[in-house]
Amino acid sequence: MSTQVERIVIAGAGQAGATVAFGLRKAGFDGSITVIGDEAHLPYERPQLSKEMLNLEKGEHRPIRSQEDYEAQSIQLELGARLTRVDADGRQVLLDDGRKVGYDRLVIATGVKPRQLSGPFDHTGRACYLRTVEDARRLREDIRSGRPLAIIGGGVIGLEVAAAARAAGCHVTVIEAGERLMSRSVDEIASAYLDRAHRRDGVDIRYGASAVELGEDGQLKLSDGSVVPAQSLLVGIGVTPNIQGFEHLGITDTAGVLVDGHGRSPIGSIYATGDIASQPHGQGHGRIETWANAQDHALNLVKNLLGEDVPYQSPIWFWSDQGKINLQVVGNANQGKRFIRGDEHGDAFVVFRLDDERRVTGCTTINSPRDMAVARRWVKQGVRVDPQRLVDPVTPLRDCAI
Ligand code: APR
Repeated sequence: MSTQVERIVIAGAGQAGATVAFGLRKAGFDGSITVIGDEAHLPYERPQLSKEMLNLEKGEHRPIRSQEDYEAQSIQLELGARLTRVDADGRQVLLDDGRKVGYDRLVIATGVKPRQLSGPFDHTGRACYLRTVEDARRLREDIRSGRPLAIIGGGVIGLEVAAAARAAGCHVTVIEAGERLMSRSVDEIASAYLDRAHRRDGVDIRYGASAVELGEDGQLKLSDGSVVPAQSLLVGIGVTPNIQGFEHLGITDTAGVLVDGHGRSPIGSIYATGDIASQPHGQGHGRIETWANAQDHALNLVKNLLGEDVPYQSPIWFWSDQGKINLQVVGNANQGKRFIRGDEHGDAFVVFRLDDERRVTGCTTINSPRDMAVARRWVKQGVRVDPQRLVDPVTPLRDCAI
């Protein structure tokens, strides 16, 4: 493989793609950079779609950087362009308008799309998904209308939207197929808190149920035989990777594009970052669907693209704002011995996870962002703590490390 890198093509104009592009320039790369994305907008961060953009008082979305910034940095943006296929031998990507763009290095940052709810239940075409600016605008209008909203999926998206819709006075029902909220990303104690907090705020939550049929009258029939009002309907049941155009390369798995700890795919000239990267983490391999990963993994990748050899080692970290609720997780929230600081039945507490050597391997904070700042440092550095002191909220956290 040639080591001469003059042309870098980034497939995917989201947060990770834009971060790689500007990161390359900042690091001094002076070759050509082309960013290809099928959305019409300048790259933007998606957390705002389920937060600020659904706040009826607040305005439109904000792009990460302005058009002038791209021009000033000589970053070629191909927006509204879909990559249809990669020719790895010829080192070029093919676009849907017939163009071919050659590369020395290809960075795949195409992200994920909402998993579609299967079955013939939505012949009305009224179901919303939430992934793009257009989706958020449509959902905001649904919320503004004040019509009853049914949300299928009690995950991150479902709960952030539930809180926004309740703030606007909508009747909200959350339909969760599993037994608890946000089960993919938080432990039982945090799920129980979320259940309590959202119910207190007036959200109707149904577990172990799925949508069966949406009537013309806006009534949604559930698998348990009950019926809920769904004049507006949002589906947030997880995501699937955007791997079209890469499948024939033999570098994808069910999660996305397979990469090693350096962001390299099995084909030496192709890398992947952001949500699409099926990357090593903890004991396994898979997607890390967080803002922090799109940022930090992308910046780490820049170094490796430019010839360094730096493994990516940041612990997983994410937050979710659900109305007044601030929930954050670092590391693994579901494994290790559990120690709770504060009252788990109250509105602010912290759940630590420790390994057998009393190292902090994970932490969930409920309305305690300052404690998260400490926990992030501890998890990153593998700090050992005294569990007795940890569970005593009067002992400052800084005095708990041993
Ligand atoms: N009916 C009801 N609930 C379902 C169904 C179904 N048919 N299928 C899945 N679910 C539930 C899951 O049990 C889970 O609780 O939907 C929830 C989906 O939650 P997440 O996996 O968190 O996915 P989502 O909320 O859609 O978020 C998607 O957006 O903000 C990003 O990082 C976030 O990657 C995440 C993405």
